[in-house]
Amino acid sequence: MYCTRNVTKDLFWVGGNDRRLALFEGVYQIPRGVSYNSYLLLDEKTVLFDTVDTAVSQVFFENIDHVLNGRKLDYLVVQHMEPDHSGTVSALLARHPETVVVTNSKVLVQLKNYFPQIAFDSVQIVDETTEFSTGTHHFRFVMAPMVHWPEVMVTYDETAKILFSADAFGTFGALDGALFADEVDFFRDHLDEARRYYTNIVGKYGVQVQSLLKKAAGLDIQMICPLHGFVWRENLGAYLEKYQLWSSYTPEEQGVVLAYASVYGNTANAVDALACRLRDRGVTTTVYDVSVTPAADILAACFRYSHVVLASPTYNGKCFVKMEDLLHDLANHNFQNRTVALMENGSWTPMAAKSMTDLLSGCKNLTLLEPLSMLCTLKNEQSAQLDVLADAIADSISA
Ligand code: FEO
Repeated sequence: MYCTRNVTKDLFWVGGNDRRLALFEGVYQIPRGVSYNSYLLLDEKTVLFDTVDTAVSQVFFENIDHVLNGRKLDYLVVQHMEPDHSGTVSALLARHPETVVVTNSKVLVQLKNYFPQIAFDSVQIVDETTEFSTGTHHFRFVMAPMVHWPEVMVTYDETAKILFSADAFGTFGALDGALFADEVDFFRDHLDEARRYYTNIVGKYGVQVQSLLKKAAGLDIQMICPLHGFVWRENLGAYLEKYQLWSSYTPEEQGVVLAYASVYGNTANAVDALACRLRDRGVTTTVYDVSVTPAADILAACFRYSHVVLASPTYNGKCFVKMEDLLHDLANHNFQNRTVALMENGSWTPMAAKSMTDLLSGCKNLTLLEPLSMLCTLKNEQSAQLDVLADAIADSISA
């Protein structure tokens, strides 16, 4: 059975939802699933914007057949070659040999590498100077390298003032019937998943996202159609504001993420004690055990808040392995512009703070507070040290 929705009177969502995939990209938990969006425009010519993951190919082709209703598919615009959007290109072209692929030269190289069995002799190469028309709709293409792969471009429909934004402005989460962000309470119910998507998928490429935002600022955009999640037709500014913050590595809120590793509970106890003292000082806190919460989720929290406390026992002469994973993830996603406090534990020689400092050494513009060290347990006699650390964090928040 087909499953489509009108985006506008002549533009249709023809994508699909996957609620069974356990790990997106083999890494990221997606308990609420994911949508693979594809859009089909019925103008004097018909044009499809990107395809979908093979997991939802059956409904995708039923959707296309339903919307085309016997018309031929004139164009396929390929904006991004990651297989969650290009996986069904070859199957689509087998069904629609008449279709001309409209794309840029970098995409074409990847198309040929992913699908060496296809000749790709009906291709129209475009760039930012290309004027492309399907009749009443006129399009421009904007290159968006590294948002999130090097070949990515986005497409602006000058007639309908719609930006087809590729991965940008996407979110994890299947579409539960609601296609538009204004059909749900996005900022209450979906912002956390949008942040987790942004930080993990394109968080490393803030400079490139900023560049795209600057280009987009010159366009009159009334609607955004991303490749995952909701279509935006209202309140675009509020979501763009989040992208400005995330891509410039600016905290959304003042507050502290406390992420700890703890083998026997003593480092966890020290972190809980610090969290209580921070709350006593009116500071927002959120605590994670790195052995329980995936690094990807903690990374998203670290993009949200202004301060981070990292606490670890000493393990093989370094910090705990799960803390090491988190720190690699932070560094790999260009974590920066934050105040960081370290807490270390050691049953004989605490070494974790040095190890954590080394792992953070590539991160830009971190303010490191004086680390707190403990032997086996945090002693009641160290209460004053805990107050000093809590004061230092609270003071830097109110400063
Ligand atoms: Fe949703 Fe970069 O692919």
